[in-house]
Amino acid sequence: MTTALIVLAAGKGTRMKSDLPKVLHQVGNAPLFAHTLAAARDLDPARTVLVVGHGSDLVEAAAKEINPDIQIVMQEEQLGTGHAVLQARAALKGFDGDAIVLYGDTPFIRPETLDAMRAARANGADVVVLGFDAADPGRYGRLVVKDGALARIVEFKDATEDERAITLCNSGVIAAKASTLFDLLDGIGNDNASGEYYLTDIVEVARAQDLSAVAITCDEAETLGINSRTELASAETLFQNRRRTEALEDGVTLQAAETVYFSLDTVIGRDAYVEPNVYFGPDVTVESGARIRAFSHLEGCHVSTKSIVGPFARLRPGAELANGAKIGNFVEIKNAQIGEGAKVNHLSYIGDATVGDEANIGAGTVTCNYDGVNKHHTEIGARAFIGSDTMLVAPVRVGTEAMTASGSTITKDVPNGALAIARADQQVKPMLAVKLFAKLRALKAKKKKDI
Ligand code: UD1
Ligand code: MG
Repeated sequence: MTTALIVLAAGKGTRMKSDLPKVLHQVGNAPLFAHTLAAARDLDPARTVLVVGHGSDLVEAAAKEINPDIQIVMQEEQLGTGHAVLQARAALKGFDGDAIVLYGDTPFIRPETLDAMRAARANGADVVVLGFDAADPGRYGRLVVKDGALARIVEFKDATEDERAITLCNSGVIAAKASTLFDLLDGIGNDNASGEYYLTDIVEVARAQDLSAVAITCDEAETLGINSRTELASAETLFQNRRRTEALEDGVTLQAAETVYFSLDTVIGRDAYVEPNVYFGPDVTVESGARIRAFSHLEGCHVSTKSIVGPFARLRPGAELANGAKIGNFVEIKNAQIGEGAKVNHLSYIGDATVGDEANIGAGTVTCNYDGVNKHHTEIGARAFIGSDTMLVAPVRVGTEAMTASGSTITKDVPNGALAIARADQQVKPMLAVKLFAKLRALKAKKKKDI
């Protein structure tokens, strides 16, 4: 069965107290709705429709970045969840598959749960609702189950005392055939305590038409919605804990798991070893067997197998480490390819550069890539040896198996195999230091006496 996602993201999120639309707030360095989309990835949705309202321009731009094929529909006025879903009708005209309604501010639904909903649909249920047993049912909608079937969903505001005592609550996730969903929505009104068009009313409409409805359940933690900064902070903690567990289960060693931070899209291969206090920003891939040493910060980079990074290293976007590369302490790499077995072990900045296989970059080397207006490229050949404290003023090329002398400022290309020395000649003045010291001490003594 092909599936379309309808993701509701029109709400303002007043309680976030933010100029940013709620679904653009981030957990694991990805907007909340990206988590919802990621959870549904295994369903291989043929279509994804995002219902936007508040801050629609910003939400649309962020959504297109994640999925260029996403369909954006506008809900000008937020008249309720049922009204929101109806906005997707035109976008899904002629779509013959199932629709799953998800919330853009509910990032923790697990793929397995969505799969269970799909299975319930395959078993013949016309409407499948995801519920959970709430520890504190609060203001959630209640699922009224009779004889094993879902009879209706009642919103807290509209519920009787008896109904409020029900602990089986509505998560908001609903699946049905898309055409059925829209037909059922034609049958709902807004004559309720909120004056809103409730998506949840489709259950009663379905039952009146002799269609079947079932509830399946998931863990309450999966249904956690984000409404405030406090909830956002808890969500971050929950996300990090989940990712740490996943990494460990995938065969990654985390020496102090609770100190390692992941992004939604972090990929780490099996037998990678991560020391304490490592931060994975967006778009990081670490291959099997690599070692990320303590206090390193990585984003937008690729670390190949057997590479060693850190301690205290910073890999910025475009850092590409080939197999067995070594990046040591207080080294920053940006937009640079570091060849197989190449070493940048101490106190260096390598940006907008290519470093050949087995090259050795001495301590304190800097690629001077920026002239204040433009960025320029530095090329360092295979097996080249860059002496400590070399300034490489880009654009510049150091050839294969070439060398630069320590302390050089390299402004011209160095041919293959050549040694470049670009520093002032050393002068030695015998005994001058002793004379100088004597003079300085005398001066100091005189000053003291004068006071
Ligand atoms: C909804 C459910 C309730 C459920 C709860 C779970 C209904 C009527 N109620 O209530 O049964 O227990 O979620 O969290 O469905 N949205 C729009 N446009 C709108 C209204 C909402 O896009 O016009 C979006 C919101 O941005 C949010 C989601 O839909 O992502 C849910 O809306 P919200 O107002 O939080 O619904 P609840 O009252 O919490
Ligand atoms: Mg809500």
